[in-house]
Amino acid sequence: MRSGFDAAHRNAPDIAAICEAEGASAVAIHWRTREDKYGGERAVDKIAEAKARLKIPVLGNGDIVDVESALRMFRETGCDGVLIGRGAVRNPWLLRQVSDALAGRPITVVNAAEQRRVMFTYFDDLIRRFNRPAGAIGRMKMFAGYFSKQLPHGDALRPRLQRAETVEALYEHALAYFERLDRHEAGDEAAFEAYLPPERPARGELSAEQAV
Ligand SMILES: Cc1cc2nc3c(=O)[nH]c(=O)nc-3n(C[C@H](O)[C@H](O)[C@H](O)COP(=O)(O)O)c2cc1C
Repeated sequence: MRSGFDAAHRNAPDIAAICEAEGASAVAIHWRTREDKYGGERAVDKIAEAKARLKIPVLGNGDIVDVESALRMFRETGCDGVLIGRGAVRNPWLLRQVSDALAGRPITVVNAAEQRRVMFTYFDDLIRRFNRPAGAIGRMKMFAGYFSKQLPHGDALRPRLQRAETVEALYEHALAYFERLDRHEAGDEAAFEAYLPPERPARGELSAEQAV
């Protein structure tokens, strides 16, 4: 559930208590109100309040995008667990990485081969599930839009995939990208040289003009 309908009606703890009395075995609460839609200012107090009142597990949700934001939710609310939505579509290993952090293990690092495996497994599954290639292409582009956000130079891959008109073209672009990423991982500094748009410097790097 969301924390309430709007800022004046943030009644999630009451609703959660009713759920518990009616036999729910756990509740998940998103810090946004319904009126916040995808905006609003982060306020996790109602998750903390519900946790303090209820005996059943309370799960915190909303904008958990990395290990730090997951730990922050635990820290600030005392919740028993977290739900991760968009963050896990972007980085499917985030769930394991959060578990690593909670268990005090080193955080799992994912290499190009593993990223490639997951991307193509997902693509292959979509092809099998959709009868028409047009349906599969739409979903592949949606997933790739999220997934490419955590890939090195993913900003350059994304428009290539978005422009692809066939499943074959999509696979070709993805394969060409991962070949470069493999070379990049092996230490080839020039692996992405001809790949990035010359007029737009890669994120975090200064262009010659900005640097002077
Ligand atoms: C793939 C995906 C599809 C979603 N579709 C909807 C939707 O149709 N309607 C909606 O109100 N929220 C939708 N959501 C948002 C979720 O209900 C939820 O509010 C959100 O994922 C909160 O967790 P997050 O901040 O970790 O993403 C979607 C989320 C994801 C990841």
